[in-house]
Amino acid sequence: MYGLVKDKITLVTGAAQGIGKAVAMIYAENGATVVLCDLNEEKVKEAAREITTQSGQKCIGMKMDISSSKDIDAAVSETLKEFDRIDVLCNSAGILMHSLVVDMQEDQWDKIFEINMKGAFLITKAVAKVMIKQKSGKIVHISSCSGKKPTREEAAYCSTKSALNGFVKVCALELGEYGINVNAVCPGATDTEMVRKNFITSREIEQEWINKTALKKLGTVEDQAKAVLFLSSTLADHITGEAIIVSAGEMMTQ
Ligand SMILES: NC(=O)c1ccc[n+]([C@@H]2O[C@H](COP(=O)([O-])OP(=O)(O)OC[C@H]3O[C@@H](n4cnc5c(N)ncnc54)[C@H](O)[C@@H]3O)[C@@H](O)[C@H]2O)c1
Repeated sequence: MYGLVKDKITLVTGAAQGIGKAVAMIYAENGATVVLCDLNEEKVKEAAREITTQSGQKCIGMKMDISSSKDIDAAVSETLKEFDRIDVLCNSAGILMHSLVVDMQEDQWDKIFEINMKGAFLITKAVAKVMIKQKSGKIVHISSCSGKKPTREEAAYCSTKSALNGFVKVCALELGEYGINVNAVCPGATDTEMVRKNFITSREIEQEWINKTALKKLGTVEDQAKAVLFLSSTLADHITGEAIIVSAGEMMTQ
């Protein structure tokens, strides 16, 4: 495409499928080397092979549980051993489980926080240490419109994504002096397994969601990946601490 991340060493979490995989693909298509990390080892290795074949770029798939600092340290060490630096991090790993507050189980609450928020902290900490030494870097977290507005049955999820938007701002403040930009993309409803499993479970519900948007369409993973690519490139050199909504105008109409 445009070579927006040409020769950059990029690391993507949650890269086996959905938005993370689309980000890995668009990075590779724009000239980057990509390290794809995910809990699902088989699927992430398959995604890396597929992207290498399609883009001709070097891609590696690695198993990594985002809630485990041991796994993260291993993935970062392996990336540095192989490529010596990390220019871009996109953290897309995340989970969603629906439940009313009064029905929510404590372990369900904890799991959503462990992956969506503690995971974001752990991966940022590990990669920021590398980027501080390099005195440059771009970090993009995948947050959500649910971090900006309440959604029924998403108390834990909304809380993690609101917290993530706050975390992004503090990281931007602390890391800016080292030439590191930290931002988030907040997707609206985007056609992935997460959405199909949890709430867009019929043609009728899909149409309801489409009707909520100004542009009258459901997001694609490529819609999100394009925004992430922008924030990961020199085009966004002057942008930091932002959580940018990519929702076809869904946020305006609710
Ligand atoms: N799809 C949407 O409409 C939407 C909207 C707003 C925000 N988001 C956010 O976008 C991100 C990606 O979501 P998606 O829709 O692509 O979902 P998805 O379920 O298709 O993909 C999520 C990926 O994260 C991985 N993952 C889950 N737990 C993990 C862990 N502990 N360690 C490492 N990887 C793990 C999964 O294996 C999977 O490959 C999430 O953070 C989600 O909250 C999605």
